[in-house]
Amino acid sequence: MIPLAHTLTVCWVALVFCFPAVLATDWIDYPSAGYATMTHYTLPENYIAACGCTADSTHYPTAAMSQMAYGSSTAYGPGCGRCFNLSLINTFTSDPPFYPPQDERSSVVVKVTDLCPLGGNGWCSATANKPNAGGAYINFDLAWPSSSISDNFFPSNDFGVWNISYQEVNCTQDWEGGKVAAALGSIPDGGSVCCPANPSGNDTCPSYSDANGIP
Ligand SMILES: *[C@@H]1O[C@H](CO)[C@@H](O)[C@H](O)[C@H]1NC(C)=O
Ligand SMILES: *[C@@H]1O[C@H](CO)[C@@H](O)[C@H](O)[C@H]1NC(C)=O
Ligand SMILES: *[C@@H]1O[C@H](CO)[C@@H](O)[C@H](O)[C@H]1NC(C)=O
Ligand SMILES: *[C@@H]1O[C@H](CO)[C@@H](O)[C@H](O)[C@H]1NC(C)=O
Repeated sequence: MIPLAHTLTVCWVALVFCFPAVLATDWIDYPSAGYATMTHYTLPENYIAACGCTADSTHYPTAAMSQMAYGSSTAYGPGCGRCFNLSLINTFTSDPPFYPPQDERSSVVVKVTDLCPLGGNGWCSATANKPNAGGAYINFDLAWPSSSISDNFFPSNDFGVWNISYQEVNCTQDWEGGKVAAALGSIPDGGSVCCPANPSGNDTCPSYSDANGIP
């Protein structure tokens, strides 16, 4: 808590410098369907990720969402719990690019349980004014391999960055864990978790970093 208290004090004393920093959290307002990029990362089974979704959520397809679309730099944000149908289109960092035939394009419905931070390998670094190197404003970092996703989900030996299409879907109806009580909701852990079973309209998570004055 000391670094946070220190930050708040600095903000309090120097409001002039604090306000621009707060206003600079310019979250990305993305459409419910469009193009994005997809990377993948290792999420150990039963791991509690940034949103604080239950351990059992990891038994089904999940992904981390790039920070400025996720809507928080820490803990939970408005992206938490949302479900998206992600469909592979092509690789573009491979040489040559790879375009699987239309009938061999995998798709998967994921639930967002984690934050993919700005920085790092750059794929999660899009801002409202600047897309990532794939021209996308959202990156989905798929938890893969996963016991819930077939090993041949990626149709070539190149597991680089994929250009994908995404569509927000109804978790209850379309996510594999959508009717499994143990996979839904958040762990009981004070105030820093938020993982709606099927966020829509008024039950999406607020931004933890905005609410706590964290840039
Ligand atoms: C992604 O796919 C769309 C639709 O085919 C295309 O317009 C776009 O240029 C592709 N982007 C990349 C980075 O390959
Ligand atoms: C999602 O699907 C469930 C089950 O089919 C349905 O009861 C619910 O109304 C849907 N929610 C929304 C927001 O469409
Ligand atoms: C996901 O997208 C694929 C490819 O467009 C489509 O075939 C599939 O029906 C979609 N799944 C859902 C649940 O929307
Ligand atoms: C959220 O929306 C639903 C349906 O639109 C409504 O029944 C419910 O009272 C709302 N909850 C809050 C906390 O506003």
